[in-house]
Amino acid sequence: MPIPYSDISPLRYPGSKAFLVDYIDELLKENYLEGCIFIEPYAGSAIVSLELLRRGTISEAILVERDPLIFCFWKCVFQYTYDLIDRIDKLPVTLETWDNFQDYKKIDIQHENQVNYQQIINLGLAGLFFNRTTFSGILNAGPIGGRSQSSNYKIDCRFNKNKLIKKINKLSELHNCVTIILSDAVQFLKKSKKLLGQKQCFIYADPPYYKKGKDLYRYWYNYQDHQMLAKRLLSTNTPWLVSYDNHDKIKSLYKKAPGRWQIYIDYTLSSSSRRKEMELIISNLPIPPKSFEISLIEIS
Ligand SMILES: C[S@@+](CC[C@H](N)C(=O)[O-])C[C@H]1O[C@@H](n2cnc3c(N)ncnc32)[C@H](O)[C@@H]1O
Repeated sequence: MPIPYSDISPLRYPGSKAFLVDYIDELLKENYLEGCIFIEPYAGSAIVSLELLRRGTISEAILVERDPLIFCFWKCVFQYTYDLIDRIDKLPVTLETWDNFQDYKKIDIQHENQVNYQQIINLGLAGLFFNRTTFSGILNAGPIGGRSQSSNYKIDCRFNKNKLIKKINKLSELHNCVTIILSDAVQFLKKSKKLLGQKQCFIYADPPYYKKGKDLYRYWYNYQDHQMLAKRLLSTNTPWLVSYDNHDKIKSLYKKAPGRWQIYIDYTLSSSSRRKEMELIISNLPIPPKSFEISLIEIS
């Protein structure tokens, strides 16, 4: 199944779950969860939340992210839209900016009040810049076109300012329905018991991949972290779904979950490059949507 192209997020994302949007949309509808508060504790490109908000399937999205560059980017999109757009407009997309922005990668904040408004805009702009000028949107990867910039694809080839500004403007219309939080996901879930107990919520967790997490993201999980997430999810009554790379350790962590499926994803990278991979989707909702084109194989 080719991944449906989805164009709502300004971020290109390694491990983007655009292909799960329709599935989760149907899952929510079949389980009478339309209009719920949708919590995405590992936001990344936030494609699932943003598309479900756009469709009106959910009423609110809470996006949690541990990477300050990604957190600040989303904060700017929804709260400092015009400052961000102004800075994008004036930004030279060059190797010189690339070098000047390296210091932003060294800033590790745990809470948003450790930075002021101006720093949030600088970090958010740097987050977008690195996401759109590196290979595959991997923030720690090298610049597109390499240091020599001798290939046909240069550092600015994925940085179409007009398109990015248009998307950001469009998304900012959703600002009343989106909350952005800088936190570790498990800590956030621990602290949110009241919200989870009082309102109709759904948690969609897409943690860093078990195997390739540290190659793709600046923040990733070790086994104990994955274990803590499983413990947290398995002990809540709030409906949830988690997606993962296919690994026996993960299957084992979730062996008590009511719904565990494997799905084949056909990553068509180009006409000559295809890669089929198995991913896991696990949920405390036992029934997967019936009328869905992704073929789900139940894990025995
Ligand atoms: C698999 S990606 C999410 C991709 C996203 N679902 C999408 O479709 O674009 C995992 C995300 O979790 C973030 N992350 C890593 N450690 C985290 C933590 N402890 N708490 C919250 N987010 C974390 C990474 O920075 C990355 O953006």
